[in-house]
Amino acid sequence: MVSINKSFLYGIFFASITWIVSLYLYAQLTKTLQPNSNSFAPTFEPKLNKFLEKQSFGLEKGQIHPDKGYLKKANGFNSNSLVDKLQPIVKNAPNSSNKFEQDLFDLGLVQNDKELKIKDEGYKIHAYNVLISNKLSYHREIPDTRNPLCKDVIYPPNLPDASIIICFYNEHYQTLLRTIHSILDRSPENLLKEIVLMDDFSDIKNLHENLQQYLKNQNLTNKVRLFKTKQREGLIRARILGAQKAKGDVLVFLDSHIEVNQGWIEPLLSRISSRKTNVVMPIIDIINPDTFGYSSSPLVRGGFNWGLHFKWENLPKGTLDKPEDFIKPIKSPTMAGGLFAIDRKYFIDIGEYDAGMNIWGGENLEISFRIWMCGGSLELIPCSRVGHIFRHRRPYGSPDGQDTMLYNSLRVANVWMDDYKDYYLNQNKQAKNMDFGDVSARIQLRKELKCFDFDWYLKNVYPELTLPNDNEDRLKKKWSALEQDKFQPWHSRKRNYVDQFSIKLANTSLCLQSAKDTKTKGSYLVLRPCLKSKKQIWYQTDRNELVLAQLLCLQAGKPKPILYKCHELGADQEWKHKSGKNTPIYNLGAGTCLGVARKKVNATVEMRLCTEPELNTWDLVVD
Ligand SMILES: *[C@@H]1O[C@H](CO)[C@@H](O)[C@H](O)[C@H]1NC(C)=O
Ligand SMILES: *[C@@H]1O[C@H](CO)[C@@H](O)[C@H](O)[C@H]1NC(C)=O
Ligand SMILES: *[C@@H]1O[C@H](CO)[C@@H](O)[C@H](O)[C@H]1NC(C)=O
Ligand SMILES: *[C@@H]1O[C@H](CO)[C@@H](O)[C@H](O)[C@H]1NC(C)=O
Repeated sequence: MVSINKSFLYGIFFASITWIVSLYLYAQLTKTLQPNSNSFAPTFEPKLNKFLEKQSFGLEKGQIHPDKGYLKKANGFNSNSLVDKLQPIVKNAPNSSNKFEQDLFDLGLVQNDKELKIKDEGYKIHAYNVLISNKLSYHREIPDTRNPLCKDVIYPPNLPDASIIICFYNEHYQTLLRTIHSILDRSPENLLKEIVLMDDFSDIKNLHENLQQYLKNQNLTNKVRLFKTKQREGLIRARILGAQKAKGDVLVFLDSHIEVNQGWIEPLLSRISSRKTNVVMPIIDIINPDTFGYSSSPLVRGGFNWGLHFKWENLPKGTLDKPEDFIKPIKSPTMAGGLFAIDRKYFIDIGEYDAGMNIWGGENLEISFRIWMCGGSLELIPCSRVGHIFRHRRPYGSPDGQDTMLYNSLRVANVWMDDYKDYYLNQNKQAKNMDFGDVSARIQLRKELKCFDFDWYLKNVYPELTLPNDNEDRLKKKWSALEQDKFQPWHSRKRNYVDQFSIKLANTSLCLQSAKDTKTKGSYLVLRPCLKSKKQIWYQTDRNELVLAQLLCLQAGKPKPILYKCHELGADQEWKHKSGKNTPIYNLGAGTCLGVARKKVNATVEMRLCTEPELNTWDLVVD
C-alpha cells in the first residue's frame, strides 16, 4: 500500500514536471508526419514545446543566452561568395532545406565589425537578432503553416471589418514595419478597417518620428494611424487607449513583433460574426529570435497554475479525432494574451481591461476568466496563424521596479476567484499583505454583468485543472481527461545521424576535440593532434547539429563555442558547411564561423568572421 502511494506521489511529481516535456516528446513522435500527407496531423516542430518548457507565462522565452554576442576579435569581411560555397548539408534526409531557410542563412552572415556591433546591441535592447531583421524584406514570404483543409473553407461574404491594435514600447523599427506590412499584405482590403499603432511612450531616439515619416512617405496614413501616449502606461492601459481610437467592428490585438500568415483574418472574423461573444485567437507560430526562421506550432490550449502563471497544455482527449477536427475552433480556458480578436462593442460591454493594472502581467488571465464567467467563450482558431518572435527575455521592466505581475495577479485573485484565491495566496506568501489598489469598480462590474462564480468556471470550463487538495482519484481522473501521448524517455529518444567525420584544420594534422572530455557540458574546444579516436568523431544530425561522440552538441557561444546539451532549437547549435575538404563551418545563430587564432596544438577554437581562410578552413575527414 505504502509503495503504491509512494509511486503515485512520484507520479504526481512527474506529471507536473513532465507535462510540458510530454508535449515536446509528442512533437518528436509526430513530427515525421508530413504537412501535406493525407494524415491531417498538424506539422509539429519542437520549438514551441522547448519554449513551453522554459516558459512560465506570457510570450517570452526563458533566458537561454543572457547576453548574445559571439565574437571576440573581429576583423575583415565575410564574403558572399563564401556563403555561396556553403551547401545545405543534409545528406540522407529528405528536402528539409527550403528557400526560406537558404535566404535566412545568407542574411544571417555577419559581414564586418560594424554589423557585429549592430547585432550585439540589438540583442541587448530587443533580445533578438536585429541584424537579420534589418536585412529581411518587409514583404518576405513565410511558409503557409495551415492545415491543408483550411484552404477549402468558404467564409461568408459579409464579414465584419477589423481594427488591428498594436501597442509597442521601444520596438525595433524594421521589425515593427514588417509586422505592419505583413498585415497589409495578407488581409483583404475590405476587412481591414485600419491598423492602430499605440506607441507607449517609447524613448528610442526618433523611433516615433521615423515611423510617422515612413507612413507618410508610403501614403499609408489612411490605413495606419499612429498615436503616442503622454506617459508610460504599460500594455494594459495602452490597449484600452488603442481600442478607444478604433472604428472597426472587431478589435484584433496583436504584438508588435509578429508576421501574420495567409488567410489569417477571415476565420477570426467569421467566428465572431457567428456569435458576438466568441473571443478568438490565432495559433501562435514560432519565429526564431536568432535566425528569424518561421515554423509551425502544435495545437495546444491555454491553462494556468495556482501561481497564476499562464501555461500551455495538451487538448482534452477526443478533441482531434477526425480530420475536420484539426480546423474546428478549440475551446481554451485561458489566453496567452498577445494575440486575440474580439467584437468591439462586446469588448466595451464586458469591461475592456482592468485599467488599475500596471505595465504587464495577469491581464490575460483576468480577461480570460471574465469572458468565460460572464457569458462569452474563448477559442483557438486553427486556420488562423500568426508568427511571433519568441524573444530571449522581456527586454524591459516596470519604470518604478514594481513586480507588476504580482500586483496585477492579486487584483485578478481578489476580483474573480472567490475562495479559490487562497490557493494562490498560499503559493505566494509575500502577496498576502501586499497592496493591490482599489478593485471596487471591478467587483461592481462583475455584479452588473451577473457573472458565474469561479467554482462554475472550474467545473464547466476547466475541469481538468488540478486543485491543491485533490485526492488520488480526482487527480487520476483529471489527468486521464487530457491527451496523454505515448512518449519515449529522453535517454532512448532517437537522434537522426546522417554523417560522421573528424574535423581537421586544413593543411594541418590538428583535429577538433573537447578541452576536457566528451561528457563535460560547457567545455571549450581545442586543437589536438588527429587520432582515430572516438573523442574526435563528430556526428551530424538531420537538424544540422554536430554532436561529439554522440553525446553533446557543438554550440556557438561568446566568444568561444562550447559543448552543450542538444536543445534542438537550431540557431546556435545549427551548423552549415560543404562536405569534404576545405570548408568553413558556419553557425546560423551566430552568423560567424569556427576558427582559431593560431595553428597550434591546444589552440582554443573561437567564433570568428568567416574570413581568414588560413584560420577557419576545415577538412571533414571520413574514415
Ligand atoms: C528537393 O528539392 C529540389 C529543388 O529544390 C526538387 O527539385 C526536388 O524534387 C526535391 N525533392 C524532393 C524529394 O522533394
Ligand atoms: C494615397 O492613398 C489613397 C488611398 O488610401 C489614394 O486614394 C491616393 O490616391 C493615394 N495617393 C497617392 C499619391 O498615391
Ligand atoms: C596541450 O594540453 C595538454 C593538456 O593540458 C598538455 O598535456 C599538453 O602538454 C599540451 N601540449 C602542448 C604542445 O602545449
Ligand atoms: C592548403 O594547401 C593547399 C596546397 O598547398 C593550398 O592550395 C590551400 O590554399 C591551403 N589551404 C589553406 C586553408 O591553407
